[in-house]
Amino acid sequence: MTDVSCYAAYAADAPLKPHQITRRATGAKDVHIDIDFCGVCHTDIHYARNDWGRSNYPIVPGHEIVGTVRAIGSEVHDLRPGQRVAVGCFVGSCQHCASCDADMEQYCLNGFTATYNTPSKDPGGFTYGGYSKSIVVDRHFVLTVPDSLDPAGAAPLLCAGITTYSPLKHWNVKPGMTVGVIGLGGLGHMGIKFSHAMGARTIMITNSAHKAEDAKRLGADEVLLFTDKAAAARYAGQFDFLLNTIPVPHDVTGYMELLKVDGTMCVVGSIGPTSELNSRPLIFGRRSIAGSLVGGIKETQEMLDFCGDHQIVSDIEIIPMQEVNQAYERMQTSDVKYRFVIDIRQSLS
Ligand SMILES: NC(=O)c1ccc[n+]([C@@H]2O[C@H](COP(=O)([O-])OP(=O)(O)OC[C@H]3O[C@@H](n4cnc5c(N)ncnc54)[C@H](OP(=O)(O)O)[C@@H]3O)[C@@H](O)[C@H]2O)c1
Ligand SMILES: [Zn+2]
Ligand SMILES: [Zn+2]
Repeated sequence: MTDVSCYAAYAADAPLKPHQITRRATGAKDVHIDIDFCGVCHTDIHYARNDWGRSNYPIVPGHEIVGTVRAIGSEVHDLRPGQRVAVGCFVGSCQHCASCDADMEQYCLNGFTATYNTPSKDPGGFTYGGYSKSIVVDRHFVLTVPDSLDPAGAAPLLCAGITTYSPLKHWNVKPGMTVGVIGLGGLGHMGIKFSHAMGARTIMITNSAHKAEDAKRLGADEVLLFTDKAAAARYAGQFDFLLNTIPVPHDVTGYMELLKVDGTMCVVGSIGPTSELNSRPLIFGRRSIAGSLVGGIKETQEMLDFCGDHQIVSDIEIIPMQEVNQAYERMQTSDVKYRFVIDIRQSLS
């Protein structure tokens, strides 16, 4: 067992502060990873602030982890100490249900084990995430990172990347299609990059006028400022697919009018219950509204390799661990380009 320093949230209304946890001893199938970088996902804020009423304090957030193998268990033969590896949103699943058999551990019928805030046999009784010096993870849930990718920029691929890549793949985004990405934050900017790389006509749909230029730099062909109702009307019926990353309850029906007949809007942002859904645009146009949760381990590795081939990483602002509370404040006012990544190696001792 190893004592490890970390940052934890202790209550919904208190800032994160330094904390100490114990990592389990490296088992036969385990990999002990020294964490180099960890991205800051909006989900970390939802949990730290108990937005979903299921936070078990203290919480050590962080599920966009890139690190270096420190040690491997006796049954791990395909990784070596010193190798660059990564861990995403979950660190366990039953590995024998229909979803796990289909490489969709995120939909494990017996419930996956999230990287943090999930009951576990580990010391402390819960999983603790990447705002920490090291982590011990079952080999099955450890990814490898192409050497060609900047390790800090690669960290957000483990959540923001796979959460946008997976639905774009599932709905067969390809040249000839028109895709709208709604909300230019951590997820949204990866959605733009992937949709562009997959060859679709890619349109950024934002409520922030000042992000237009950046959206084009990231790969958007056009930008729709959704607060401009005349512009929104011009785009009605044009989209094959919409990827909605907005993290708060909002009028989803307003976006449905943008879809073609048979088009789909996939909601990945955690909007919770909403009273704003009107059946009219669904019925008049046979449109669908769907959801998607991150991606399985096999698909996450495929996404990382795709990023290696296309030189795709996240646009990041590197911060020391000590600035995470300010980062949370800034994210809540959409003031980040486009992902904070904590330099764990340099700033957490
Ligand atoms: N489904 C999954 O598997 C999964 C995985 C990871 C995260 N998530 C969820 O996805 C959501 C987005 O996460 P993120 O890390 O990308 O967040 P983020 O970096 O904070 O970006 C969210 C973006 O949504 C827009 N937005 C923010 N507040 C808004 C408001 N009040 N009304 C309308 N638009 C608003 C902003 O874009 P504009 O300024 O361009 O309008 C903002 O940049 C979160 O709810 C997170 O929990 C889901
Ligand atoms: Zn996340
Ligand atoms: Zn399962």
